Parts: sequence; C-alpha cells; structure tokens
Amino acid sequence: MAFTPRHLINGVPGDLIPVSDRGFRYGDGCFETMAVRNGGIRLWDRHYRRLSDACRRLGIRTGVNREQLERELAGLTAGVDRAVVRLTVTRGADEAGYRPEPGLVGNRVASLLPDRVYPTTHRTNGIKVHLCEARISRNPRLAGIKHLNRLEQVMARAEWGEEFVEGLLCDDRGQVIEGTITNVFIASQHRVSTPRLDECGVAGVMRAEVIDRLRALGISCREEPVSVEQLLAADECFLTNAVIGIWPVTGINDTRFAIGDVCSRLATDMAALLE
Ligand SMILES: Cc1ncc(COP(=O)(O)O)c(C=O)c1O
Repeated sequence: MAFTPRHLINGVPGDLIPVSDRGFRYGDGCFETMAVRNGGIRLWDRHYRRLSDACRRLGIRTGVNREQLERELAGLTAGVDRAVVRLTVTRGADEAGYRPEPGLVGNRVASLLPDRVYPTTHRTNGIKVHLCEARISRNPRLAGIKHLNRLEQVMARAEWGEEFVEGLLCDDRGQVIEGTITNVFIASQHRVSTPRLDECGVAGVMRAEVIDRLRALGISCREEPVSVEQLLAADECFLTNAVIGIWPVTGINDTRFAIGDVCSRLATDMAALLE
C-alpha cells in the first residue's frame, strides 16, 4: 500500500525541527531504521536496546520512557502492513557550542516511510559488492553506535553507481569492518566470523540476531578481526541489515563466491522473520 510519509516530533504530528537542533548542527544524536511488518516493528526489543544504549553512552536525555515510545510508535504503525520507521533522537536544540546547555532534553522524530523494495533476486541469487577505497575511522568511544554522523558512508557510496549493490569498508589498518548499510559475515569450512566492532562500525540489530541464530543452529560464530585476504578467500560471504534481512554475496570486485550452506540454512531458519 502506497502512503505519504508521516512524522511525529516528540509525539506530535509535524515535520519541522528547529535549526538550532544539535542533530542538525553537529550530528549530535543517534537513530534506528526499522522494518514494519503487520503493524509491528520487527526486532523492536533489539532496536530499543541499541538506541537506549547509544543514548546512555552519548549522555543524551530522551525525555521519554520505553512505554511512551512504544505507544507513539504503535500509533504510527497501526494497520500498516509493510513500511519502514526511522526513529531519530538528538541531544536537543540549544544556542550553545559543543558543550550543551545544562539540563537539555532530546528531540525525537519518528517517521513512517514507504517500505524499501529491493529486487528479490538480491536475496535469492546474491549481490555484487564493491571493495571501497574509503576507510572507516577507528574510535572506540563511538564504536557500535548508530550515530548521526554518516559522512564516511556518504563518501564511500560515491565510489560506485548501479554496477554494485553494496560496498565494503575497511579501517585504516586494512581490517574489514562492514558495508555502507550492512554488516558482514564470512564462512570457511562451516566456521563463521564477523568483524569485531569494538573500534568502529555499527553493531547491527540483524547482525546480533544472526549471531544468536547461528549459535542456536550449532554453527560457531566468532567476532574477530577479518582481513581482506580472509574475506576474499572465504567459502561464503553474506551481509545483514534490519530492513534488508540477509543478502548473500556472489562477487567482491573480481572474486566470485557461491551461495553457501550457512547462508542457506540461515535463510530457511529465519524465513518467517524475514518475509
Ligand atoms: C554503517 C552501517 N552498518 C551496519 C548497518 C546494519 O545495521 P542494522 O542491522 O541495525 O540495520 C547499518 C544499517 O543501516 C549501517 O548503516
């Protein structure tokens, strides 16, 4: 069903945020991009936990508790079959410099947006991926947080057009970290690895779900450093995102991959969640 995007600002319908908002001025905030399925938010508990963890680490006061937020989001998504909700929380609006005004309370914007529709062949036949020249900066204090500063991803995405579906990024030491909008997993001889995210990268909600599902399936999954050499030599590779689900990778630049057992088992195990 097509619909016009709707926004709630601090729970009230509207689409204007003051220019003094610190999210606009400094990227001072964090966000969640979530899939709506049958009127509810998929993996809501994981999204909520990542958002509240980000606010705690950044010292942002949201001015709203979980129940209020859930009520607001339920009002936004009621009766909606498939859509995307973006929930943005900023530190709030002030006239201050980097040091915020004392007692500042955050602003939140909940937007109901049309579902992102990707070709189903991305899921079934896999995707071709570009290995980016751009690097991700390491900063343990921000690592894992889905904060509002996304210039690294914007710059990386400028490296290709339509010839690839996604790009993979390394840090300055050449360790693979993640895609521009996805997390990455590799499997070799049924041993699965995903890059550690203690120095940079977004700790994806779907990544966490996949790690738990793999372990429940009895497949070992380690969070560990992954080099480009390991990536290119892997038996299989797949990418995860809360809205997209799982995309098998069939090519990284000139290296080809088959869609492997691990990815196929996950797709079967998670079919109901990912439909
Ligand atoms: C840079 C980056 N990494 C990873 C992800 C995947 O996170 P999630 O599974 O929460 O969608 C995203 C999502 O947009 C992202 O922007």
